[in-house]
Amino acid sequence: MSLLTDISWESFQKLTLCEKAPYFRSNGHEGHVIIAQQFDRERLDALGNLATRIRRIAKSHEGLDFLQSLLSHRRAMLYFSQPSTRTFLSFLAACEILGLKTGEVRDASTSSEFKGESQEDSVRTFSSYFDLIVMRSKIGGLAERMAWLLSNSERPVPILNAGSGKDQHPTQAVLDIYTLQRSFEKSGGIDGKRVVFVGDLLRGRTVRSLSFLLTQYRDVEQVFVAPPQLQVAEDIQAMLTSAGVQFSLTDDFQSQIPDADAIYMTRVQDEWDTQQGESEKADISKFCLGMDELALMKPASVIMHPLPRREEIAVEVDHDPRAVYWRQMRNGMWVRAAMIATIFEKHKRIEAYANEHAV
Ligand code: NCD
Repeated sequence: MSLLTDISWESFQKLTLCEKAPYFRSNGHEGHVIIAQQFDRERLDALGNLATRIRRIAKSHEGLDFLQSLLSHRRAMLYFSQPSTRTFLSFLAACEILGLKTGEVRDASTSSEFKGESQEDSVRTFSSYFDLIVMRSKIGGLAERMAWLLSNSERPVPILNAGSGKDQHPTQAVLDIYTLQRSFEKSGGIDGKRVVFVGDLLRGRTVRSLSFLLTQYRDVEQVFVAPPQLQVAEDIQAMLTSAGVQFSLTDDFQSQIPDADAIYMTRVQDEWDTQQGESEKADISKFCLGMDELALMKPASVIMHPLPRREEIAVEVDHDPRAVYWRQMRNGMWVRAAMIATIFEKHKRIEAYANEHAV
């Protein structure tokens, strides 16, 4: 078994993402949720099934009462030092579904960080009062560091990474997989599908995490459509090559639409610009999906987006049944509830309840 208490931070940092993954598990399931590499296909299936069970159980008053009794003795800290609406709210809702009480810090200027406290010390403080820390930070790798630090402290509470820097957004990637699973339920699942990523693929962390998870499925082809300066990073390309995945890079969106099973749109991540107006140099108008593009899509394909969107998907597209991004967002709440339930080892009780009540 790989334990974060058995390895120094210096040695841990040198590991590859796949080598790090087992250290975040505990008893064969999630201990901390930090990187997409923690999730193999079996885990993704288990989480998807659990999310569906929670979704169905929560439909009745009695079912929701049962779910809310599971973790009513636990508290979660939502520590979002980077802007967030849906991820924050979906974690809040997921906690409420399972009965967890929550506290929040969303603005570092109202916390002691304003007085010069390090984020390390802030997280350590939260661990004194809470049983789970959900954190989003613009600092890449911070969630990983916190997981190591807390595991080696007297209060080893779990960390859930709700987005770190430009590098990882594991919970978004798992909910994206769940959305794909549900969308292709009747057409053979995710295996053999063609997923087309569009937009700012260099700085979008959701794409980086999802691209890895898709390698867990058989014969999934990945296409990256972006202006050259925002094209997917070399580390992702190297990861795909070593996984033996068929992938291609292009800036011609139109040519990729007719064969796509899923089109994953993203916005320009201009908050990462190092020079003013840097993102404006990319002509994003060729990477937008409107009614003309919709007309080129296969009838059984889907359009996804981690949201928030800007102009990359026209609002008229929302009415098309292939536009699944609102459902995708809602799926996030169920998947996050499934993850939290698993961290606290409540998955078996949920399964038992679902079987007993035939839901
Ligand atoms: C994404 C993020 O924060 O990386 N948003 C989200 O969590 N749904 C995508 C984005 O901000 O563009």
